[in-house]
Amino acid sequence: MALVSARQRGLVAGLGDLVSQWTFDRKHGLEAFMPREVEATEDQAGFRPADSVQYQGVDPGLAREVLLGIPAGVRSQATFVDYGCGKGRGLAVGMLAGFPRLVGVEVSPELAAACDRNLRRLRERHPGVALEIRILDAARYEPPGGPLVAFLYNPFLGPTLDEVAGRLGRRDDGHPVWVAYVNPRGRGAFPRASFLERAAWEPSRAVLLERRLPASPTTPAGSPGS
Ligand SMILES: C[S@@+](CC[C@H](N)C(=O)[O-])C[C@H]1O[C@@H](n2cnc3c(N)ncnc32)[C@H](O)[C@@H]1O
Repeated sequence: MALVSARQRGLVAGLGDLVSQWTFDRKHGLEAFMPREVEATEDQAGFRPADSVQYQGVDPGLAREVLLGIPAGVRSQATFVDYGCGKGRGLAVGMLAGFPRLVGVEVSPELAAACDRNLRRLRERHPGVALEIRILDAARYEPPGGPLVAFLYNPFLGPTLDEVAGRLGRRDDGHPVWVAYVNPRGRGAFPRASFLERAAWEPSRAVLLERRLPASPTTPAGSPGS
């Protein structure tokens, strides 16, 4: 993991990232450092292991920066969903960014249990925040209504990502939907599902997207009210 980070960002920046991850985990009571493969045997109907990416915790500094790009009025109202929450570092960043409700969706029961343990300290410090961890294939998860922020740290690609993006793009309850996507290897899935890119952290470190609102029906000229 250290080698991957150093290769992507250069040795000094890569080592700096690792130190800041370790410091974040210690400060908030997480054990989220070690990567873990996704088991092809995860017991979920329809789960496509070939689409899945192994567990690795997100860079908390970058995740925070991306989340703070979402308007404060949305953050204070929205449900934050971490698709592929792993050991919970993304959820921890979401809690600290001020979301009132958070959901972690994770296909691996073992990782979901680690996530639950990891967030104990933050839950005690933020008793008013609602947090739920669902053991489920993200492709089958139906998010709650209301304003929504979907957080992804490169959890899966292929048909699983298309299914998640399509479901988010088809929501029609009139509330905003934002996607914070770190290491956006499948970023093309969201424009295909009616999302517009609002900000990008290059080179391909993260993107922030907002669902395009459906065009309001136009009133034909000459009709009542025109
Ligand atoms: C790169 S990790 C992201 C961890 C976490 N979001 C974070 O920010 O620290 C990807 C996670 O997605 C999970 N995952 C992969 N495919 C999944 C699927 N189809 N449904 C739910 N979780 C999945 C993996 O088990 C892994 O924990």
